[in-house]
Amino acid sequence: MTSSILAARNLSKVVSSAEGELTILHDLNLNLDKGDSLAIVGSSGSGKSTLLGLLAGLDLPSAGCVLLAGKDLSQLDEDQRARLRAEHVGFVFQSFQLLDSLNALENVMLPMELEGHADARQRARALLERVGLGQRLSHYPRQLSGGEQQRVAIARAFAADPDVLFADEPTGNLDSQTGERISDLLFQLNQERGTTLVLVTHDERLAHRCHRLIRLEAGHLIDHVEP
Ligand SMILES: Nc1ncnc2c1ncn2[C@@H]1O[C@H](COP(=O)(O)OP(=O)(O)O)[C@@H](O)[C@H]1O
Ligand SMILES: [Mg+2]
Repeated sequence: MTSSILAARNLSKVVSSAEGELTILHDLNLNLDKGDSLAIVGSSGSGKSTLLGLLAGLDLPSAGCVLLAGKDLSQLDEDQRARLRAEHVGFVFQSFQLLDSLNALENVMLPMELEGHADARQRARALLERVGLGQRLSHYPRQLSGGEQQRVAIARAFAADPDVLFADEPTGNLDSQTGERISDLLFQLNQERGTTLVLVTHDERLAHRCHRLIRLEAGHLIDHVEP
């Protein structure tokens, strides 16, 4: 039996610009079960990052709603959304976004410490070993390659054992071989932990490893493939 972990209902996003109102997402519907993997593809400016931000509760829709772990995000205030994210959501960005002044271990520990985990250090070490960086715990981001930095970011994202991992172009800044290793890691963790993956990507191979793929074109969901 599966159950819905993330759903979008009639989701729209309208922003105002100098030219007037601009609709960047049009009436979008989506449902993801636990353990699913979804690729969001589409050309630059088609609305992918906006959609990811709405699904993760970082931004609010102009109409429609997002249900994350059974909660309607538009019914929650900013603090409640932040708490829901801390409990259920992990992020991986194209640009890694590690803190330069913290070493690998500290970067992975930080979110767990903020959440008050007593065993943050042990869990961070185990996760870094899991992503193959057991020998890089005290390295600072500038001492790590791009692929290694992204592995630290993945360890950090999985630290809170999220139900949903969102990634915006996780292989976008990596060469194709390193990108492939990062993809392998995401899908291994997806299978080991039953984490739902929502990936924005231009990487065809990464997109086609997902169970489902949607394509955005000027804010419209034009394609819905379930291979
Ligand atoms: N806050 C905003 N105000 C005005 N326009 C925005 C805003 N956020 C995004 N856009 C516009 O919405 C469109 C979709 O942006 P985005 O979701 O970042 O696309 P993608 O990630 O697919 O490249 C773009 O044309 C962008 O310029
Ligand atoms: Mg984007």
